[in-house]
Amino acid sequence: MRNKKKIGVILVVFIVLGFFLGREMFDKKSTKNSSEKKVGILQYVSHPALDDIEKGIVKGLADSGFKENKNVKIILRNPQADQSKLKTMSEELIGNDSDVLVGIATPAAQALANQTKDIPIVLGAITDPVTAKLVKDEKKPGGNITGVSDKSPVSSQVLLVKKLLPKVRTVGILYSSSEDSSKSQVEEVKHTAKKQGIFVKEYAVASTNDINSVVNMAAQEVDCIYIPNDNTIASVMPTVVKIADDHKIPVIPVADTMVKEGGLATIALNQYELGVQTGRMVSQILKGKKPATMPIFSFKTGKVVINTKQTKKLGIEIPEDVLKVATKVN
Ligand code: TRP
Repeated sequence: MRNKKKIGVILVVFIVLGFFLGREMFDKKSTKNSSEKKVGILQYVSHPALDDIEKGIVKGLADSGFKENKNVKIILRNPQADQSKLKTMSEELIGNDSDVLVGIATPAAQALANQTKDIPIVLGAITDPVTAKLVKDEKKPGGNITGVSDKSPVSSQVLLVKKLLPKVRTVGILYSSSEDSSKSQVEEVKHTAKKQGIFVKEYAVASTNDINSVVNMAAQEVDCIYIPNDNTIASVMPTVVKIADDHKIPVIPVADTMVKEGGLATIALNQYELGVQTGRMVSQILKGKKPATMPIFSFKTGKVVINTKQTKKLGIEIPEDVLKVATKVN
């Protein structure tokens, strides 16, 4: 008799528990109504260029009819360059039922690609998607990945250096040894600079801890510092500019955002526009297109951007023809 009572009580407890758990699961499911899409964005780190790309993605989606909190839910994760968090955050975005994933910067895109071969992934401004082993062929990606490449117009940038700073003999390339995408750019700069009779010296940092000593050394050995599409350096741009300014050494970066932060000038792709284009591609996939058949998008030409505060500070005369076509920032 006592045993029967005990069993009865246990049964009731299970039924009640089952009821609540069931309702909880149902509630979770029902928060995603069928017309609402989910986009999971993994941004590798915060720096002005990547922040602009992220804002551009939201704009590109909205322009194509996917408005945040109306018919699309955007979930953003950012491990602030912490490698160990890339994997867990990728898993989290996939666990959240994202319809499309977006990787902003190479390490984020690679982390997502390692976790899924099915859910579409859109690349948010990846320098070299093939070398990064994200796609086999830029024209025919073939798998679940497509997106935007921000490979920058390196030869035009070197020519701009030649034009603005005709006395430059040695350029120092400042980059991070931990970022694969920087290495191929270093080779390209070396190649084009050599053709222009400019000598190139490499300055690689292992982490941001080295930045002070490495930039100080570079500033004493070169006439100009060039910064490729490197997330580590982009994250510490104000420090780089401060040291370079102290030595009166001009800095030529790849991004418009980095000119705004104190770079002298460049021929750059607009970071926000890169994001807008990424957002457009996300929306095409949400509407049913398949990444496998969507070629990687690259902007063909960049715009001249000049920081007029820096030209004054460094006493650099900008030729009229360059000034005429340039966007001025400071
Ligand atoms: N292309 C970089 C990558 O693949 C990311 C990036 C976009 C970037 N815009 C930038 C890095 C501007 C430095 C500066 O990782």
